[in-house]
Amino acid sequence: MVTVEEVRRAQRAEGTATVMAIGTANPPTMYEQSAYPDAYFRMTNSEHLTPVKIKMQRMCDRTTIKKRYTYTTKEVLKENPNIATYKAPSLDTRQDMAATLVPELGKQAAIKAIEEWGQPKSKITHLICCSTMGPFMPGYDYQIVQLLGLDPSIKRVMLYQQGCNGGGTILRIAKDLAENTKNARVLIVCVEITIAGFHSPSETDVDVLVTHSLFADGAAALIVGADPIPNVEKPIFELVSAAPTLVPNCPGAICGSIREHGLTIHIGKEVPEIIANHIEERLIEVFQPLGISDWNSIFWAAHPGGPAILDQVEAKLGLKPEKLLATRHVLAEYGNMSSVTVLFVLDELRKKSTEVGSKTTGEGLEWGVLFGFGPGLTIETLVLHSVNIA
Ligand SMILES: CC(C)(COP(=O)(O)OP(=O)(O)OC[C@H]1O[C@@H](n2cnc3c(N)ncnc32)[C@H](O)[C@@H]1OP(=O)(O)O)[C@@H](O)C(=O)NCCC(=O)NCCS
Repeated sequence: MVTVEEVRRAQRAEGTATVMAIGTANPPTMYEQSAYPDAYFRMTNSEHLTPVKIKMQRMCDRTTIKKRYTYTTKEVLKENPNIATYKAPSLDTRQDMAATLVPELGKQAAIKAIEEWGQPKSKITHLICCSTMGPFMPGYDYQIVQLLGLDPSIKRVMLYQQGCNGGGTILRIAKDLAENTKNARVLIVCVEITIAGFHSPSETDVDVLVTHSLFADGAAALIVGADPIPNVEKPIFELVSAAPTLVPNCPGAICGSIREHGLTIHIGKEVPEIIANHIEERLIEVFQPLGISDWNSIFWAAHPGGPAILDQVEAKLGLKPEKLLATRHVLAEYGNMSSVTVLFVLDELRKKSTEVGSKTTGEGLEWGVLFGFGPGLTIETLVLHSVNIA
């Protein structure tokens, strides 16, 4: 007689969950950060709010962002004036737009990931989708199945309203699925579009200025599975362990809500300090078992919520400037794409490592860390293991 334990053991994968492909996508419209306040105040007919515009220009200048991509153009606002009118009911319009834009951008990233992976789509066993906006029933995971022609019996998980920690969260769930199911190949798709939370400026709403100085649209898709087939599937990073936590007593530091006038987000000024004060305990928890205590000896992929977070983390830990280079590069070139951003950082890390001739996908180093920061305040921490570059 076979025991339950034997059945379970036979179902489990042997190896560690491994990222095998990464695809990214952005909408076609790009704004230079230095020109954004002008464009934003013009397309929302708010140029009379001169002091507000000057304040936003100050913020934009401090973000270290150079470029951002978005679906929210002046043409879109002209066609949908309720989106550009402060606090006007507009949720229906935003939802209608999300219904097509979110799956379409996700599809673009997923196609690239599947192409890099090089295996037939029929081998994808699980699909996890994540987006802060555009909740529907069925979720956009349904559209991804249709658009990519995936097996209708694929095992689906839909994550809405995760916020900026979502990139870490989706990897953590993918790791669990991949390691608990033999031959699992998990396609993960993260999409964020800012039309959901686009608002006109107002003299009394500083949250709008902060979010509109930082956030951008993008999508990322990854293939994750354990036990890559040698010479067929190409490992990029191993996901060694995952340890999420909630920082106590700060539920309001980053928070959001879907209102009649769209998604509203509050990001408190205290966020960089809260994260910096809790970062080392997260590192100690996950790296002590590995005997690692020098944070400059590992490679870094952090969610670049804003430069103030990166500056304070760097100062608190005494990190060398090169540690956050990939993270800062993604912030500069794409802005804060919420859950998607840290997945772009993984892509940047492995591409740059190959480009400069490093020995491993982690800038020549063996071990690395991935951080996601978001509402709660949630800190997602994953230990990464790099792969040798042939
Ligand atoms: C927003 C940011 C780029 C501004 O850069 P900075 O180096 O702090 O610049 P400054 O201190 O000169 O601030 C610029 C202005 O923004 C205001 N400001 C900064 N952060 C703010 C916040 N979270 N809420 C409201 N206003 C804020 C400052 O009060 C200042 O206003 P003032 O010019 O009228 O005095 C920076 O604070 C940052 O990166 N913040 C982190 C964002 C964050 O928490 N993201 C998490 C999302 S996951």
